[in-house]
Amino acid sequence: MEISRPKIRRFDPSADLNSVVKLNRVFLPENYPSYFFVENYRRCPEGFLVAEVEGRVVGYIMCRIETAFTEDETIKMGHVLSVAVDKDYRRRGIGTQLMLQAEENLTRDRGIDLMYLEVRVSNEPAISLYKKLGYAILGMIPRYYADGEDAYLMYKPTSEAAARDAIMDTLGRRVRQVN
Ligand code: COA
Repeated sequence: MEISRPKIRRFDPSADLNSVVKLNRVFLPENYPSYFFVENYRRCPEGFLVAEVEGRVVGYIMCRIETAFTEDETIKMGHVLSVAVDKDYRRRGIGTQLMLQAEENLTRDRGIDLMYLEVRVSNEPAISLYKKLGYAILGMIPRYYADGEDAYLMYKPTSEAAARDAIMDTLGRRVRQVN
């Protein structure tokens, strides 16, 4: 199918909420009530984006900002909470554009040191996408999901401050090492 170029823009709660909730319910096992999306948008509009094709919302990414403290530094992290692209629009670079635009916005506007996310160990498409974008597996979180599946915690430094030691001091506590 030939599709016109997707437009990546900020989520608009009054126009896009129903589409995003629907995409989330149809394409992801982790579902959230509407207010969770609105609350995340309120706290971090720079990290909540949609992909629009011919007036239709066909993908979204929702992130939040988290702060962690090590002995001598503060690490600001962009946490990808949810990302999905409609099945009919996949493998056209939309997931890539959403991830990169969110990373750029959070680095520029919120001064994050790294991006991170959890992903099901069986989710090969998503893991491939994240690896292609420069994310590395920090470790595994056993039984992270409600159905008992393990997650990989994957991260990508976005600043000099995000030295490996500082990352291990903060996110490293949440994971078991994988070989
Ligand atoms: N198999 C293998 N690699 C894949 C893949 C697949 N099915 N889908 C994406 N990739 C990798 C490829 O390297 C691809 O590059 P290529 O097409 O040049 O080979 C790269 O990721 C970029 O893909 P892109 O087109 O930008 O991603 P997308 O728009 O298809 O969206 C997801 C990717 C993961 C967001 C989409 O598959 C999706 O919505 N899945 C269901 C929801 C989900 O699992 N979300 C992630 C939860 S952590």
